[in-house]
Amino acid sequence: MKILGIETSCDETAASVVEDGQRLISNVVASSMDLHTAYGGVVPEIAARSHIEHIMPVINQALMSAFQGPALEAAWDDIDGIAVANGPGLGGSLLIGVLTARTLAIIKNKPLYAVNHVMAHPYATFLGEKPPEFPMLALIVSGGHTQLVLFRGHFDYTLLGQTHDDAVGEAFDKVAKILGLPYPGGPSIAKKTEEGNPRAFSLPKSKMAGRYDFSFSGLKTALLRTAQAEIGEDYNFPSHKLSERLSEPQKADIAASFQHIAIETLVDKTVQAYEEFAPKSVVVAGGVAASSELRRQIAGRIPIPAIFPDIKLCTDNAAMIAALGCFMAAKNQPPADPYTLAIAPNLSM
Ligand code: KG4
Ligand code: ZN
Repeated sequence: MKILGIETSCDETAASVVEDGQRLISNVVASSMDLHTAYGGVVPEIAARSHIEHIMPVINQALMSAFQGPALEAAWDDIDGIAVANGPGLGGSLLIGVLTARTLAIIKNKPLYAVNHVMAHPYATFLGEKPPEFPMLALIVSGGHTQLVLFRGHFDYTLLGQTHDDAVGEAFDKVAKILGLPYPGGPSIAKKTEEGNPRAFSLPKSKMAGRYDFSFSGLKTALLRTAQAEIGEDYNFPSHKLSERLSEPQKADIAASFQHIAIETLVDKTVQAYEEFAPKSVVVAGGVAASSELRRQIAGRIPIPAIFPDIKLCTDNAAMIAALGCFMAAKNQPPADPYTLAIAPNLSM
């Protein structure tokens, strides 16, 4: 069974064809990230406008490269259904993907599956060489989400915990901004840490009432205070002027100390959940799964190898949407009504 996946929840316009939830046939991603860099974060209106421009070329390219045939119509004949991320995400961005998918489902007469973007992230690992087994513990870490989920099977899961404020990727992005490093923060902080000492500053780990809940806003504030103290200023000193006053070695030490503690917080909770639930597999997914520090720390602390998606499937993509769509179709999850499917910007798991 071949499913066309469509993803437009944030700043990536993506389409992909996946067979049986396990074989990646094509994967096309057009990112508007460069357009947002000047603003230090995603600008929703710019993202939505970029989706409008790219959505049909991206879908057509995913279909044509999947079937390598001369005619787009023949490629459509081979598609058994369409899966689209209808939430969570930016309203204007989701709308472009969902309206496009609805229209295509109607005119091509294909079943339409509404996919939860966050739930789809760990499904990128089903496209790897060694697909995960259930029960599967998933750490989902991205710019919008930080969650620990225990999947007993497809569509049978418990949300163990989540962030109460900033997502971990969002914390990387905000800290990068304070240090004057480019957006997105994850990769630019990772690069900066190469020259820094992760033990230079002792930053706090948040203590939450829920055993598997997270909080990153306190860490970000502690980092701000550390940076202000480093240049001999008090808490009134504006954060946007800090990067001009910090030396490069100071920035590297702050970046390294932040990355170390943020990642250790994720790994601590994952280890606790591993010990409590003894899952058969541990999966780490979402943009922050690209972090080599996360890969390094987790490898030393759980006895089985954690499964990460291929690096290009860590950040937002449509392959994970198509993969989950395949399992929805195979496990008889009800398709959506293409005439009424709505976006769900605040969808949770
Ligand atoms: O999954 P994703 O592409 O989008 C969302 O659904 O949010 O994740 C993007 C996030 C950004 O916050 C980015 O800073 C973070 O993933 N990220 C990283 C790394 N690469 C990307 N965070 C830490 N280390 C990295 N190497
Ligand atoms: Zn995502």
